[in-house]
Amino acid sequence: MRNRVFCAFVALAVLFCSAFSSSASSVEDWEKKWDSAVSNGSVVSLSPGSDETQIRFRFLAPLGSKPEFRCADHENLTDADALDVQRTPTVTGKLCCTVSADGLKPDTTYYYAYKTGDAWSAAYAFHTPGTALTALFVSDSQIGRSGNWRDKAVLLHDVAGWDTTLCEAAGTFPEISLCLSAGDQAEIGFSEKQFRLFLAPDVMRGLPIATTVGNHEFYYPCLNLHFAHPNRYGCSILHSLGDEPYYFAQKNALFIVLDTNDPIAWDHEAVIERAVQSYPDTKWRVVMMHHSLYSCEDSFDDGPNLRGRLTSVLQKYGVDLVLSGHTHRYSRSFPLWDNEIAQSGVTYLEGGCCSGCNCKPSPETLPSYSAAGYPKTNPVYSVLRFGEDEITVQAFAVEDGESVEIDSAAVLPCPNNDEDAHSSQIVRILHGALSLFGRAVSVLFR
Ligand SMILES: [Fe+2]
Repeated sequence: MRNRVFCAFVALAVLFCSAFSSSASSVEDWEKKWDSAVSNGSVVSLSPGSDETQIRFRFLAPLGSKPEFRCADHENLTDADALDVQRTPTVTGKLCCTVSADGLKPDTTYYYAYKTGDAWSAAYAFHTPGTALTALFVSDSQIGRSGNWRDKAVLLHDVAGWDTTLCEAAGTFPEISLCLSAGDQAEIGFSEKQFRLFLAPDVMRGLPIATTVGNHEFYYPCLNLHFAHPNRYGCSILHSLGDEPYYFAQKNALFIVLDTNDPIAWDHEAVIERAVQSYPDTKWRVVMMHHSLYSCEDSFDDGPNLRGRLTSVLQKYGVDLVLSGHTHRYSRSFPLWDNEIAQSGVTYLEGGCCSGCNCKPSPETLPSYSAAGYPKTNPVYSVLRFGEDEITVQAFAVEDGESVEIDSAAVLPCPNNDEDAHSSQIVRILHGALSLFGRAVSVLFR
């Protein structure tokens, strides 16, 4: 009987929702979609898995329900495997549901559908990376930032801008198979409505996204609830309620996502060390964090004031590229080593604001370490291609709904010496002891 119901659903679902064929919706379109978007408490997110052979899914469901999930490499989901749905009750009285699709083949389109009540969702599609990885990099969509976050008009403006940027990027570069978001996805960390809107664009049904805890999100477990990131690191001294740091590999690149609301550099080194030990052979090492260590705002205070303590760690572990946001300004640094421009070193990319909620210009005169900026106030996104010899960076502004290239560069490998890439014995012992205390405190507050 269950299969017959499912067959009926598939027969009716003539229109397959291929995320990358969707077109952007205007504020007026979002006004029409408003009720369904903000009432969809079971909107699904895709997260990258431990590597490119895995995609992870997360959605919320009513307590007591028995959610189901199917995934296959063909459109006919009737004979698809049912994937295991892990269910964890949340403090908000829901079930937090996690699904992992494993053993995925490269350059392949997969389809999935899920059920939290009586009806199945539409069938959605995602595509795994081919020989090389192309990733979309964005920051500070910050749904609710363009005015009073309680106003519907403000939320409509910001979600329409976020949707436009996603559609522009995914439509122009259909080879994108991963989205990297450097934090402040929403203005208010506890606003379920803002996270539903962040996840509402059609592109989000087919694009795994790695999110970062911003300074607007550290105080409530929104990211933890909505995203099933892999390899979460739970051994920091300081824990945000928003999410834990985590890491994963895709093709030839290792991605390490830090929570820079935590000012303790030992915590960040411990995450990077574990990630590098877990994936020692990737060609590229990329760190993503919310605060910018080398912002184009020369006088900018990076909040936790980590520049002095974290740059030496990034150099020690041979991090090639650092992705960040927070300032809502776009800039790219020269390769830097010991605070100086170098032939090869760490490149810092500051993502700008991707939704148009509050875009700020780079200054006309850039600091000496900045190689490029964007002195206008349009939404910005970047496309990163991970080749064998270089990472190519292309940045685009969305001007009047069209992508306009504003910067391009090749990031070359940063020197690394893995024999020295470890924390000292004394730091390891002290960090281990203090993290036990931190873990106990975080359990009390979760
Ligand atoms: Fe921020």
